[in-house]
Amino acid sequence: MKPINIGILGLGTVGKGAVEVLQDNAAEISRRLGREINIFMVSSRDTEKARSICPPNTLITNDPFEVVRHPEVDIVAELFGGTDIARKLILEALEHGKHVVTANKKLLAEYGNEIFALAEKNNLMVQFEAAVAGGIPIIKALREGLAANNIQSIAGIINGTSNFILSEMREKGSAFADVLKEAQALGYAEADPTFDIEGHDAGHKITIMSALAFGTPMNFEACYLEGISRLESRDIQYAEELGYRIKLLGITRKTEQGIELRVHPTLVPESRLIANVNGVMNAVRVDANMVGETLYYGPGAGSLPTASSVVADIIDISRLISADSGNRVPHLAFQPTQVQKQRILPIEEITSSYYLRVRVEDKPGVLGRIAGLLADESVSIEALIQKGVQDDSTPEIVILTHSTQEKKVKKAIAAIEDLPFVHKPVVMIRMESLHGRQG
Ligand code: NDP
Ligand code: HSE
Repeated sequence: MKPINIGILGLGTVGKGAVEVLQDNAAEISRRLGREINIFMVSSRDTEKARSICPPNTLITNDPFEVVRHPEVDIVAELFGGTDIARKLILEALEHGKHVVTANKKLLAEYGNEIFALAEKNNLMVQFEAAVAGGIPIIKALREGLAANNIQSIAGIINGTSNFILSEMREKGSAFADVLKEAQALGYAEADPTFDIEGHDAGHKITIMSALAFGTPMNFEACYLEGISRLESRDIQYAEELGYRIKLLGITRKTEQGIELRVHPTLVPESRLIANVNGVMNAVRVDANMVGETLYYGPGAGSLPTASSVVADIIDISRLISADSGNRVPHLAFQPTQVQKQRILPIEEITSSYYLRVRVEDKPGVLGRIAGLLADESVSIEALIQKGVQDDSTPEIVILTHSTQEKKVKKAIAAIEDLPFVHKPVVMIRMESLHGRQG
């Protein structure tokens, strides 16, 4: 069979990895596929670098638009990142009849609806396994492996950089800024690492998974985002004393009122597998009505793990290239006519348990007043400990609540902060049991 011609855009961390995987595993890949995959054309600003990396016959250009317009390119792998030029390139590739593979979660979460609509109009495939959780085949699991199920919820560690930072802070007491630099040097972080530490990258990924799980369009604007940058090491330590780990989780859950879609630091019981996922590793827990709970674990970032997913998509498209478009797996897992908007709940309407840390003056009756204000909002307390006096003579009270609606906790916090002997702000971190159906 005729080889499949690939055009690769960008030889950064992932692009270089894709070239390496395609070359090193060429024989094994063609054994699986029954045809060869040919690195036909590559665009890079550094054509010398490209020549030294790519096979001798590869056409090299520094104009990526030449790749997406070349009549002999079958599949374009967009490995630039960002939403400006990458969006133009993908739309142009689809206009020129090319199938597309991308690792670009930001682009899909923000412009996926436009991209998939054009691909469907032109009977083309856009595959994006590498866009969520790097090397873990979670897109395949959600779109195909779990197709018999009604998915209830997904919760995952889906930003390798943040997980790496939290793990190093907890295990080695390293400083936030030092670990971030290390994550950048290792190729884990986004070009702008704010996307990692402020929760945007995880937000892009949970938006994509939510759309696949519930058959909705991408709705990144409605995703609640809170990153790890304001997390204090003593909250990590107190959580640990109470039997919890703090992880940056992306969470989406179907409720009767709408869909929860959120990213934030979360206390997870240390006995859960996900609490023990460290470093750049990712893990995604899916709760589905027939299979129950499944967990997917693996490297969430890095050159070769991510390239493994990119090349799997190239292989997938190569297999399906001649299939009738009606028999392909739909982009968003559900038939395009069945993709339906659903209400995304504002963060005040979600249900969770909460960790609260309150700095107080050491006066009699303090605990009673705080407990009373929580009770006024029907927030019940699961555990309460008083921590020793801090540097500035203020003791701290740490409270774990039972599950309740967020707006009630926020109302109680506002009242607690108004007490004369309380030092603002009260620290609030959400908790998830990740156990059973309500996961
Ligand atoms: P890099 O910054 O390492 O590489 C991107 C490459 O794209 C650049 O090196 C450059 O290629 C090319 N490029 C980017 N912008 C331009 C531009 N304006 N003009 C011309 N060329 C450009 O990024 P990564 O490889 O890390 O990421 C690529 C994509 O993969 C992103 O969408 C990212 O979110 C995603 N991703 C990354 C993961 C990772 O672990 N790094 C994991 C999962 C997804 P050249 O140098 O050849 O000119
Ligand atoms: N910056 C991302 C991360 C890369 O740290 O998870 C993988 O998508």
